[in-house]
Amino acid sequence: MKAVPLSASRILLIISGGIAAYKSLELIRRLRERDATVRVVMTAAAQQFITPLSAATLSGQATRDELFSLTDEATIGHIELSRAADLVVVAPATANILARMAGGLADDMGTTLLLATDKRTLVAPAMNVGMWLHPATQRNVDRLKADGVLFVGPESGPMACGEFGPGRMAEPPEIVAAIEQALAAGTALDDSRGAGLAAPGLEAAGVGPLAGRHVLVTSGPTYEPIDPVRFLGNRSSGRQGHAIVRAAVGAGARVTLVTGPVGLADPPGAEVVHVGSAQEMREAVEAALPADAFIAAAAVADWRVENVASQKIKKGERGFPTLRLVENPDILAEISNKATLRPAVVIGFAAETENVAANAKAKLRRKGCDLIVANSVADGASAFGGDTNQVEIIDANGAESLPPMSKADVADAIVRRLVIELSKRQ
Ligand code: C5P
Repeated sequence: MKAVPLSASRILLIISGGIAAYKSLELIRRLRERDATVRVVMTAAAQQFITPLSAATLSGQATRDELFSLTDEATIGHIELSRAADLVVVAPATANILARMAGGLADDMGTTLLLATDKRTLVAPAMNVGMWLHPATQRNVDRLKADGVLFVGPESGPMACGEFGPGRMAEPPEIVAAIEQALAAGTALDDSRGAGLAAPGLEAAGVGPLAGRHVLVTSGPTYEPIDPVRFLGNRSSGRQGHAIVRAAVGAGARVTLVTGPVGLADPPGAEVVHVGSAQEMREAVEAALPADAFIAAAAVADWRVENVASQKIKKGERGFPTLRLVENPDILAEISNKATLRPAVVIGFAAETENVAANAKAKLRRKGCDLIVANSVADGASAFGGDTNQVEIIDANGAESLPPMSKADVADAIVRRLVIELSKRQ
């Protein structure tokens, strides 16, 4: 499979009929900004929401809609059109078009192209929550995933119909990132048809853009013992690190998770090593090498107690106890600077309370890692323990700022970026 960069890619965008169609105009704009060529096909229902003229103006190419148009067919035939693309994207994908795709129908221009194409298809579903959760739709989604169709979203949230839940189309930046990931992984439908290239978040270990890769992740806090019953710890919940493990498993990687003490279930599909202190975490990380990628999401304690008491320290025996602290090993810096067995991509985290981007950039250099995921913890509760996160992904060349989103979506974004970074280093 040949990887195509977004800037040189040809995207065939099929817009089906839902209120989210207006977001597809924004998607066209963002793809064009990145120098992708976008060819738009609209279903009849899509034209009730947006006009072919808007899509044609933004894409700079004539929009196709009719299957039996003599003039259009004379210019470029539908079979040729379906194969001239690097990737076919359906956004929004209604319940109706998913059903027609799952059934293999070819009753209009869009579905005919979907059946005729020799490239992978990425769909961004958008529909009412009840329609998304309906067993018929879920059955169609399972069928399409088994056929190798990629999915981005849907997201949960308030819907245009006034209800709340899963069914909102993924935002255009998310769809662009999913397109980039699909292109990086290769989009030709070859012998792998039916194997199912998983998108992050879909459970399909062993297949997907990280298939054959070993991803090593640390998560949670470390507990530095003071005596047999007391410790120094921190507020890390492990939610972000564990979400990254789920996303990496979903993308087909073999994943080892080294986790400090957390109140979370072990993510399915990963090999999980439970540790307490930073020193134990370092040993477990070393033992898990070699790995293609190391993602250090753990909040490792900077210091540990030098004089750990072997018995419980009793109150008032000798006044207040004095804890002497010594520095812990910096696991991220050690792994980044290994002469041998350095993973191809090393990603660190930076929880900052001020000057987030500047401090993260300095950390990138100091630690020697390839990417830093920076989040502000200035308001105390935004990242620690919560379900949402707002991060910037920083490399030596600049920063990519992501909007606030769920930790699962942040994890997907990090894994998508990892796929791209790994493909650059092949
Ligand atoms: O230096 P600071 O703790 O802010 O750096 C955070 C990043 O470094 C995180 O990715 C964390 O997992 C990693 N780290 C580490 N070992 C340490 C301290 C931090 O791996 N002792």
